[in-house]
Parts: sequence; C-alpha cells; structure tokens
Amino acid sequence: MKIIIDTDPGQDDAAAIMLALGSPELEVLGITAVAGNVPLALTERNARIVCEMSGRTDIKVFAGAEAPLVQPLVTAEHVHGKTGLDGPELFNPSFPLQDGHAVDFIVETLLAEAPGTVTLCPIGPLTNIALALQKEPSLAGRIQQIVLMGGGYFAQGNITPSAEFNIYVDPEAAAIVMACGAPIVMMPLDVTHKVMTTKARVERIRAIDNRAARAMVEMLVFYERFDEEKYGTDGGPLHDPTTIAWLLQPDLFQGRMCNVEIETSSKLTRGATVVDWWGVTKRAKNALVLQEVDADGFFDLFAERLANLG
Ligand code: BDR
Ligand code: CA
Repeated sequence: MKIIIDTDPGQDDAAAIMLALGSPELEVLGITAVAGNVPLALTERNARIVCEMSGRTDIKVFAGAEAPLVQPLVTAEHVHGKTGLDGPELFNPSFPLQDGHAVDFIVETLLAEAPGTVTLCPIGPLTNIALALQKEPSLAGRIQQIVLMGGGYFAQGNITPSAEFNIYVDPEAAAIVMACGAPIVMMPLDVTHKVMTTKARVERIRAIDNRAARAMVEMLVFYERFDEEKYGTDGGPLHDPTTIAWLLQPDLFQGRMCNVEIETSSKLTRGATVVDWWGVTKRAKNALVLQEVDADGFFDLFAERLANLG
C-alpha cells in the first residue's frame, strides 16, 4: 500500500511515522510537513529526525505550508514542548530536506501513480492537502483514500470545548478536504481518547530496547504529562498512529458512514466537526467516522512494528 504521511511532528506524529516505517505492508512514498504543533521549520526537521531515529534516512521529506489558508497559525507547544518533539535528545538530521514544495510533491505523485493506488494520511492541520486539491482539480478522483486524524463528535474538542486541534488550526482547509469527494476515514478524539499510553504499555515499549523504541518512550513520558494533568488519566491519548493502524488492521476499529461538515464561521464553535451520526439530514455521507477501538490490539501492533525498526 503506497502512502504519503502529511504531518506536524509532534510526539504522536512520531509514533505514526514509526508505526508506518516498521510496517512492511506500507510503502512510504514521502513525508510532507505542515505547520501545526510548532512552526514549519521545526516540523520538517522533526520529521527527518524521526526518520533517522527509525534508521530510514532514505525517506523523502518535503516542507509545505507555513500557515493556514486564512487565519494565523495556532501552535501547541503547551502540549508538545518548545521543539514539538520534546523528550529525547534531538540532533541535526544527517539527511537533507527534499527540494520542492510538499504540495507539488503530493500533486505530482498522485498524477504519476495509477489512480486509486495512493493513500494520504494527514495527521496535522489539513492545509497541504487542501492546497493540493485546489491546485489540481482531478486529484480527488485519483486518491485511494484520505485517512486523517481530526475532529470529534461525542468527545467534542481538545483545543476549544468544541474543536479538535488539527481541524481548529485550519477549518477552511478541513472544509475543502471534507467536500472533495475522495473516500475519507476520520479518526476523531472519540477513538484516540481510548488509546491511552498507560504505564504498563509504555514499559512494554521500553522493553523493545532499540533506538526508535527508546526515543519513543522518552517522547511519550514527556507528552503524556499534559494530558494526565488535564484528564486525570494513566497516560495520554496517542492520536495520530491510529490512522496507520487503520491501514494495517481495520478490524481494530468500528464506526459508521456519516455526513461530516466543518464549522468555519461561528466564534464559539469554529473548527467543530458537525457529524450527522444519527442521519438526521439528507446530506451525502462523505466520511467513515470511527468511534470504537481495541486499544490493547492497537498496542500489540504498535509494539510489534517498533521492534521491526531495530
Ligand atoms: C492532534 O493535535 C496534535 O497536537 C496532535 O499531534 C494530533 O495530531 C490531536 O488533537
Ligand atoms: Ca499531529
């Protein structure tokens, strides 16, 4: 399965990248960075650091949008730390960023590959994906599926009471993606809040004891402190790798096809994902919205694939 990961690392983005790179079923055609958790200069660097921690300096990393389509960038250093990847000792990656813009890479790759053979995995704000869809109108028809982390229905929001961070940062981009017509799978907070980095699960990853797993443990220990305080839980939600887990083992998840629209104008609920879970409108069902997850099954998969990075 050919994939492009669009990302704003982020410790949980790092978990998604490592899960993908440790999975032989997936061919990562490239990683495209977007501004989100931290500014672009850091997210593109972090993406390369994570590849190098995974022993994969061959992965192509591209820099994309520096800011959302309309509004100024909102970042999340309060969650991810000043670098976006606080926890392990960071270093200057030994391999360069690719020339060219991430949006051009997404467009050119989808035009070059056979239609319906490339999946997009956006795990940050949807700016790069929206720009690619705007740039090449035939693109949506060529995408196999878009498996994104974002939004919330029953769980509502995490950056505001009603909006999840990735959608909140660029709601106009999210609205373009949701309306594009390509098959969409949405991993909302409803799922990711059930994928908790409990102490027992972190210890299991520690026991793998390769470079990637050691770095992952250091990231998780830093990252979970914020959510532990916020939610009073053992560990924090590991949002982004659920998208990759869906590609590898969809039977871990349950959900339903729904209409999803994005609120872009309300002051109070801007960035909310309006999910027609109960089918009360006649609006077309444009996304598979996941709600349930086998979290132990997810961590079995995650640990198995991190061990492959040894
Ligand atoms: C999402 O926001 C970011 O902080 C995380 O990396 C994840 O993609 C969760 O709301
Ligand atoms: Ca992210």
